[in-house]
Amino acid sequence: MTVYGVGLGPGDADLVTVKGKQILESVDVVYSPGRLSRTVALNHVPESRIGDLDFPMTRDPDELRRAWKEAAAEVAEQAKSSDVAFVTLGDPNVYSTFGHLRRTLDAFHPEVELEVVPGVSAMTAFATALGVEIESGTGLSLREAANGAAPTGPDRMILFKVTDAVATHEGLTDAGYDVKFGRRLFMEQGETLVTSDPKEIEERDYYTLAYAEREGLERDVATAEFDGVDSEGSA
Ligand SMILES: C[S@@+](CC[C@H](N)C(=O)[O-])C[C@H]1O[C@@H](n2cnc3c(N)ncnc32)[C@H](O)[C@@H]1O
Repeated sequence: MTVYGVGLGPGDADLVTVKGKQILESVDVVYSPGRLSRTVALNHVPESRIGDLDFPMTRDPDELRRAWKEAAAEVAEQAKSSDVAFVTLGDPNVYSTFGHLRRTLDAFHPEVELEVVPGVSAMTAFATALGVEIESGTGLSLREAANGAAPTGPDRMILFKVTDAVATHEGLTDAGYDVKFGRRLFMEQGETLVTSDPKEIEERDYYTLAYAEREGLERDVATAEFDGVDSEGSA
């Protein structure tokens, strides 16, 4: 039988892929590592098919390894008799808890068949939500910016895990970046918030990201030549 790692997308139940939904509807047990992913999964699966896994609120590596060994043992046991799914928000292979499960299954239960169903990651959903276009030919880097960190270097960056927006904003603007924040994008739970003012999101919320672009970047896009064309189509 198969263990499916299913990406649920950013949080809106309608942004689960068709394939992801089909798998959630077909497997016997759907394991969810967190409250939010459980809420999204419940749009597609009855509560009776949601499986519980215990994850301690700790950063202690030994305790975490022990918890993942127990979780993997439970998932592997269930997978002996039925297909199961393990859901994560966004994509299962982007900064996700699914990586811990996959590594632990590989190490202790190599007989388990794994299949990943990609999901809409915040890494791509941010562009629509923040009204940003990553034009062809330009680079885009992904970084983490927890606890006020302000990584610099690339011309364009998406920053995950923005927990101190004010400090991150200060560091980035001092380094010459324009910054836009997005909180709870495409989520049903809570208001989507897009702002360039870090004070509006002073309060910590883990589901916050930022887009930083070096000030004064030159844009060189083919369609720019339409600028100045009137509605009749003449210049
Ligand atoms: C552990 S990572 C998980 C990423 C996820 N696997 C994905 O592909 O989107 C969590 C970080 O992703 C970002 N994130 C995920 N979903 C988000 C959303 N709906 N709105 C804003 N940020 C989000 C936040 O920066 C958050 O701290």
